[in-house]
Amino acid sequence: MSISRIAVVYYSATGNVASMAHALARGARESGAEVIVRRVAETASREAIAANPRWQQFLESSSDEIATLEDLRWADGLAFGTPTRFGGPASQLKAFLDTTGGLWFSGALASKVCTSFTTGSTPHGGLESTILALNNHFYHWGSIIVPLGYLDPHVARVTGNPYGASWVSRSGTPPDDACLEACRLQGLRLAQVAGRLSGSE
Ligand SMILES: Cc1cc2nc3c(=O)[nH]c(=O)nc-3n(C[C@H](O)[C@H](O)[C@H](O)COP(=O)(O)O)c2cc1C
Repeated sequence: MSISRIAVVYYSATGNVASMAHALARGARESGAEVIVRRVAETASREAIAANPRWQQFLESSSDEIATLEDLRWADGLAFGTPTRFGGPASQLKAFLDTTGGLWFSGALASKVCTSFTTGSTPHGGLESTILALNNHFYHWGSIIVPLGYLDPHVARVTGNPYGASWVSRSGTPPDDACLEACRLQGLRLAQVAGRLSGSE
């Protein structure tokens, strides 16, 4: 198995997905992978952001670099995170993904290993549909989708979402330790699978 390069790319307005992204990155690093964490550019208006103090505060405090297409090209394994918005990915992440046409056309994204994670405010508000919608991009890219699965007892017994790590944020509560552990496991699995595949080329 060779050392894999992992890019964790996310959108977050109020910080929940950001916390999950960094927990996933920790898991990937445990496998020895080289890991970068990137957030996609904010596209909402200043007025909309200023109307929500948590949104404003997150944007002002985040030190994560903005994602570029070069980050995707660089990585062997990619993890994408987004809040669930009306049962699907946030438009900010979708806007970034919609700039990957050139990479897709050149085949640069084919055979990369991809995984997804999300958070919503209710358990049946579309967590799985968001992950499945993100995964649609990977079919088009020709990538290899790595779900979290029920491989680890923590997921089977505690968090229970094999599609990808997810968090139900009641009244904005940040991800708890159980959720962050599921994220860590997802990052570890992504890096291990990416390492096996990149070593076999
Ligand atoms: C415009 C909008 C739409 C949302 N739609 C959903 C939804 O469909 N289902 C759900 O469970 N939560 C929904 N939420 C709640 C967010 O997904 C939730 O607060 C999430 O934890 C925020 O993540 P963040 O802190 O990384 O921005 C929505 C929030 C906003 C602002």
